[in-house]
Amino acid sequence: MESVQTDTATLTLNGAEYELPLSIGTEDEVGVDINTLRSESGAITLDPGYGNTGSCESAITFINGEEGVLRYRGYPIGELAEKSSFVEVCYLLINGELPTQDELDDFRHKLTYHSLLHEDMKKFFEGYPPSAPPMSVLSAMVAAMSAYYPTGDEEVVDLNIIRLLAKLKTLAAFAYKKSIGQPYVYPQNRHSYTEDFLHTMFAVPSEDYEVPDVLEEALDMLLILHADHEQNCSASTVRMVGSSGASLFASVSAGIGALSGPLHGGANTEVIRMLEEIHEAGGDSSKYVEKAKDSDDPFRLMGFGHRVYKNMDPRAEIIKSTADRVLDELGLDDPLLDIARHLEEAALEDDYFIERSLYPNVDFYSGILYRAMGLPTEMFTVMFSMGRLPGWIAQWKEMRNDEATRIYRPRQVYVGAAERDYTPIEQR
Ligand code: CMC
Repeated sequence: MESVQTDTATLTLNGAEYELPLSIGTEDEVGVDINTLRSESGAITLDPGYGNTGSCESAITFINGEEGVLRYRGYPIGELAEKSSFVEVCYLLINGELPTQDELDDFRHKLTYHSLLHEDMKKFFEGYPPSAPPMSVLSAMVAAMSAYYPTGDEEVVDLNIIRLLAKLKTLAAFAYKKSIGQPYVYPQNRHSYTEDFLHTMFAVPSEDYEVPDVLEEALDMLLILHADHEQNCSASTVRMVGSSGASLFASVSAGIGALSGPLHGGANTEVIRMLEEIHEAGGDSSKYVEKAKDSDDPFRLMGFGHRVYKNMDPRAEIIKSTADRVLDELGLDDPLLDIARHLEEAALEDDYFIERSLYPNVDFYSGILYRAMGLPTEMFTVMFSMGRLPGWIAQWKEMRNDEATRIYRPRQVYVGAAERDYTPIEQR
């Protein structure tokens, strides 16, 4: 039987029929628009975790989780990771098109010349204990930027976008230097974006330090792979906070908080902790596979599974092959890489993981690469934030410029106590 294409869906509820318009995407995805459902029928849709809810129409990133496809503004992630640079991808995501050479030069120049922090902002770092989680420091420092760079008209907003992109890496490196008690290293205009970040992280004022090309290239690629992922938890947070009219800094600061959780960006840290634990316990990964399968045990295989990818995460494939190459070039032999490979093999052959379509995600091998670069585990999720920043900015900007945007305000189905009388506590 041939399928019939209609431009509405019909919902039957308590005997009444409701015609609901459809929104058809570029790749023929179908969204049933339920905007008027409540006013017409009194009913809402219920979708805890928003697994089946589209919160907006977006032209930034396309994902087909069944086929492992990821594209930014139409460009396949594999091509961008191989041929592009992170700064070019930032421009693409935020402005919608790839830059010309002149536009790219101008963009690079701005990102370089806005990378210094207001000197007074250094005082904040003095107040944090050395043990402060770097993601908390980063979120707080981005929120504090509102005080130094107030919001204003479109021109100011555009400048604040540049400032945020330029300064986040300086904030991240200062947070790290503070945590290990070393003096801050200032950004230098002669460096590329990624090179400069690695320089501010690893240089010390008393010695010459050149960033190895292999590290710069690997980090640049990792940042590209993390740059956007449509309506994920942190991007939705950024949009939600921004939908109230809150500033870019307030919105991104909230996004950093959302990313820090172990089920989201924090997973890359947890993967390394898990691999270290397996290593220290003698390297037998099968016990951990069994633990992950046990429904009475809250343990999950970190770096496995994804809300959207049900075949493979294309980013994980690219990172896995890069990890092999980088470790080879650096002459490193990381026992955790072997454990990760064994764990992946064991899990992919196991019915539990096959039935639930659980594959390694972006966080599974990225930690091994970060380790090879000499980055401490606590900084891994900060790396994710730096990569995701252009995505958050693009999502925030799109939300702001979209006439369909209303303040995000979901409904609920109330299941608490029915109305009851208040009885005062009897006085003794
Ligand atoms: N290990 C063991 N079992 C798992 C795992 C895992 N990593 N992930 C999901 N499951 C099971 C889960 O117990 C459930 O089983 P059952 O149907 O028997 O109850 C089933 O698979 C479906 O899981 P879910 O929790 O309903 O799936 P979700 O879409 O709500 O969660 C996820 C997605 C990524 C939070 C989850 O897979 C997870 O916790 N993974 C580990 C953490 C992780 O690696 N997070 C990084 C995600 S990718 C980067 C990012 O978004 O930042």
